[in-house]
Amino acid sequence: MKKFLILLIISAIIIVPMQAKEGMWIPILLKKYNIEEMQQMGFKLTAEDIYSVNQACMKDAVVIFGGGCTGELISDNGLLITNHHCGFDAIQKHSSVEHDYLTNGFWAKDNSQELPNENLSVTFLKRMEDVTEKVLRGISDDMKGKADSIQKNINAIIKEATDGTLFIANVKPFFGGNQYFLSVNEVFNDIRLVGAPPSAIGKFGGDTDNWMWPRHTGDFSLFRIYADKDNNPAEYTPDNVPYKPLKHFPISLKGIEEGDFTMVFGYPGSTEQYAPSYHLKMITEQVNPALIDIRTQKLDIIKRYQNLDPAIRIQYASKAASISNSWKRWIGEISGLEKLDAINKKEKYESDFQDWANTQAPEYASLLSDYKKVYNTYGDYRLAYNYILEALIRNGMEAVQMAGKFKNLQLAYQMDTLDNEKIERLKKDLDKQLNDFYKDYYQPIDKEVTLAVLRIFKEKVDTAFYPDIYQYIDKKYKGDISKYVDDLFAKTTFTDKNATLKLAAGFTARDIKKLNKDPAYIVYSSFIDLLDNRIAIPYLELSNKIKELDKKYMAAQMAYQPDAIFYPDANFTLRVSYGQVKGYEPRDGVLFKNHTTLDGIMEKDNPDIYDYRVPEKLKELYAQKDFGAYEANGTVPVCFVATNHTTGGNSGSPVVNANGELIGINFDRAWEGVMSDMMFNPEQCRNISLDMRYVLFLIDKFAGASYLLDEMTLVK
Ligand code: ARG
Ligand code: ASP
Repeated sequence: MKKFLILLIISAIIIVPMQAKEGMWIPILLKKYNIEEMQQMGFKLTAEDIYSVNQACMKDAVVIFGGGCTGELISDNGLLITNHHCGFDAIQKHSSVEHDYLTNGFWAKDNSQELPNENLSVTFLKRMEDVTEKVLRGISDDMKGKADSIQKNINAIIKEATDGTLFIANVKPFFGGNQYFLSVNEVFNDIRLVGAPPSAIGKFGGDTDNWMWPRHTGDFSLFRIYADKDNNPAEYTPDNVPYKPLKHFPISLKGIEEGDFTMVFGYPGSTEQYAPSYHLKMITEQVNPALIDIRTQKLDIIKRYQNLDPAIRIQYASKAASISNSWKRWIGEISGLEKLDAINKKEKYESDFQDWANTQAPEYASLLSDYKKVYNTYGDYRLAYNYILEALIRNGMEAVQMAGKFKNLQLAYQMDTLDNEKIERLKKDLDKQLNDFYKDYYQPIDKEVTLAVLRIFKEKVDTAFYPDIYQYIDKKYKGDISKYVDDLFAKTTFTDKNATLKLAAGFTARDIKKLNKDPAYIVYSSFIDLLDNRIAIPYLELSNKIKELDKKYMAAQMAYQPDAIFYPDANFTLRVSYGQVKGYEPRDGVLFKNHTTLDGIMEKDNPDIYDYRVPEKLKELYAQKDFGAYEANGTVPVCFVATNHTTGGNSGSPVVNANGELIGINFDRAWEGVMSDMMFNPEQCRNISLDMRYVLFLIDKFAGASYLLDEMTLVK
């Protein structure tokens, strides 16, 4: 029997070629854990070529772009590429009726035309270090004020790492807090927009194709980092000059084949690979189905109005996109986990783990039952908490949310001594927020969404977590939410732009009464009271308990499988994932190729469907077959899929080939594999990247901005 097993294992090793490799790996540990395997898979460079503090390396060309994306340097003049959806805010802010860069695209002809952006920064990693020992020095598990003592140690580490430099640093927990790593960063704040294709290319396929393969989205935009004359970070001034990076990525025009090595280097945001089955159950059976339901209702209402009127389509496009993005992922995640039989797999693992703990590690024997106890109540709180956010913040009841914006002003007037400066500042901020808000406000949508939200909240959330507004509706309106909403919208000030702006500008102590009587403000206060007084603290306590258990369970799993190599959950630190270009079988009888082409864009072209309108110029280039050096097999490659393990935050990440040359820009994952945040399946999980040849084709042929290619390093 044993012999047979060994034989089986050996033959498995021989037959199964090295392919998908799960994991988001720490760059400073590649040498120890990964580089050998990467090289077996075809990688031609060394660990130092990826991360080193002694020589220029890939990490010097990768940045955090803005608050939640990745970007990379592609010239020695600070030229940077990221996704269109990552640059979207910047592009939108520069757009107006006269200069509609979203619709028409934007291409700076020279440095003087590049557009500066307030509040946009990029962050380079200078170095990373394991500081576990320093963080946990003098800390014991049961000590009082443990969190504060850890924070004190962290502050000291950060101070030591940055004193006398322009750098900033952070220390983040890895493996649930069993390890800590320091990242020392350099932040640049003068980042200028260089180029963006029209949305009909950059968002081609829109929400229809989002999270899906085959894909044809030209999801990129170009920026430039500016520095002072000494190449150091500086706030924007016209005198700043293009930043000279230590390293930029050469771009390969050689193309890709099935099986080619790929590496993604970027900032994955968060994953939950080691959570217990209780967590998966809560997410897939309780919390996410409810979240999907409330968003389905919001989207149905918004889409119905969008289809009636193109102006409303534009007004609510960005809101619909942001509601839809997680909504669609949650749906895919649930079906992906089901298909993987993930909960059963976890339960099986847990039962084996329990046997081991019972006999060999008694300190871990109660872990799973402790988890179970917390998850018994945690789900209800998590659902209530998320529903409050869905109601008030994440594109929920809009007039109610705007009413809530007056809360700080009200509080300022209730102080013992009036701080007039602060009040003026609040009024100015409020005026800006209100103006931004009403530009894209359509009252009939808000009214229907408000009704839907109030109804579904009552239906899905535990009665213990009702805000007191429902008592009022029961008493005054015999529980008729629809009548109540009619009244609310008839009486509130906050559906009326001018009245609201006037109220804000001229607000005095006397208006407090008026505010308190406004039904939209009453609804807002009722939800906020619920959050502040009944949800926030117990929810935080339960979350902290789970965090403690997660830490212990992580250590336990490592002890249980002493020979396994673990990768830490994503935590928005720089990571490497490696894999290969590879198509897949999404369902029985269907095979997906590993790449798409311009032909597919023309196939999808449909002037009647908003997401599929192909710009005339692109059609002309296609008809003339004017593909230049970017042609392959008579067309232009557009997107490709590979087996790299990625998540939110990896958008904009460089995808490089075996030689470390840029072949793509990561921007999404394929529908069948979006459960990879909780369980990776090498057969189904694919990251989606934009092929660099399409990017260059668009810059050169479509935009006529070939001067930008001159500063890039092209490998033919
Ligand atoms: N799904 C991708 C990601 O999570 C792209 C999102 C932007 N596109 C959209 N249609 N909403 O970021
Ligand atoms: N689209 C995601 C992002 O913006 C990437 C992903 O979730 O795969 O980071």
